[in-house]
Amino acid sequence: MLGVFFSLIPIALAAPAALNKYVAKPVYWLLAGDSTTAHDGGWGDAFLSTTVANGSSGHNYGHSGATTKSFRDGGDWGNVTRDIANYKNDYAVYVTIQFGHNDQKPTSGVSLIDFRTNLGVFASEVQVAGGIPILVTPLTRRTFNTTTKRVIENLANETAIAIEVAKAGSLHYVNLNKASTDYVNAIGQQEADRYNWGEEKKDRTHLNPWGEVVFARIVSDLLVAKYPEDFGRFTQRNETLSALIRAGKPA
Ligand SMILES: *[C@@H]1O[C@H](CO)[C@@H](O)[C@H](O)[C@H]1NC(C)=O
Ligand SMILES: *[C@@H]1O[C@H](CO)[C@@H](O)[C@H](O)[C@H]1NC(C)=O
Ligand SMILES: *[C@@H]1O[C@H](CO)[C@@H](O)[C@H](O)[C@H]1NC(C)=O
Ligand SMILES: *[C@@H]1O[C@H](CO)[C@@H](O)[C@H](O)[C@H]1NC(C)=O
Ligand SMILES: *[C@@H]1O[C@H](CO)[C@@H](O)[C@H](O)[C@H]1NC(C)=O
Repeated sequence: MLGVFFSLIPIALAAPAALNKYVAKPVYWLLAGDSTTAHDGGWGDAFLSTTVANGSSGHNYGHSGATTKSFRDGGDWGNVTRDIANYKNDYAVYVTIQFGHNDQKPTSGVSLIDFRTNLGVFASEVQVAGGIPILVTPLTRRTFNTTTKRVIENLANETAIAIEVAKAGSLHYVNLNKASTDYVNAIGQQEADRYNWGEEKKDRTHLNPWGEVVFARIVSDLLVAKYPEDFGRFTQRNETLSALIRAGKPA
């Protein structure tokens, strides 16, 4: 009896510390996606440079024009899974998966059924490689309906499918499509146009450098709010910016 008593105490005390030690691995981010994640126009670079705390790191694999099919066929996906193997000993490796803008084009060769299948296969390959997939619903475009004064929601199918795949597989996911739609609706067309890409600021799909920072913060805030134990301590905050976003005010 005494033996049982003494053997239980150390286990009870030791378990939380051991768990914390395991969880405390910093995060390595692998960002898979199209141009709305990619360098120069997507949220990925700013996510890595402005929201990831010291000690954690990552790589932006966003590829302009990519579909869930071309991302694999062109070799990007192989590099993502290779990196999971390389980093998983020292980091908790999370892979964000955000597609839809190109898959939805009639010429993409990717049907909605293919899109569903491809997302699910990406996620399971991340798990097999030792990483944790996070499905991210596609960033909204920022064109308003001039009658309703609401942003035109033309990624609803891809958003619904990404969420469906995540729920079916009990996967991490964040609804960036909803959060970005809500924010853009709150600030209106004129303010939303301040984030447009390009000299003439006419590109309402891609982001200029400040837009990258703002929408990267939306992604980060979604992740931290939903998965605080995974990301809380590995995130560099900007409470000023987060408060403006929460309030639906232009940042
Ligand atoms: C993060 O690291 C960089 C360089 O290693 C350093 O300049 C910076 O002050 C650090 N930031 C924080 C918040 O610790
Ligand atoms: C994958 O990684 C290799 C080696 O780092 C690189 O040469 C190649 O360009 C990458 N492929 C893509 C599609 O980025
Ligand atoms: C804008 O909204 C009106 C009213 O709901 C609708 O009839 C119209 O089709 C919409 N236009 C676009 C481009 O979505
Ligand atoms: C969504 O998918 C349905 C078929 O499931 C299709 O009829 C509809 O046009 C799609 N909507 C958009 C915005 O692509
Ligand atoms: C934080 O957000 C504020 C308000 O948008 C911005 O002016 C500032 O540059 C940001 N700071 C950092 C370190 O990103």
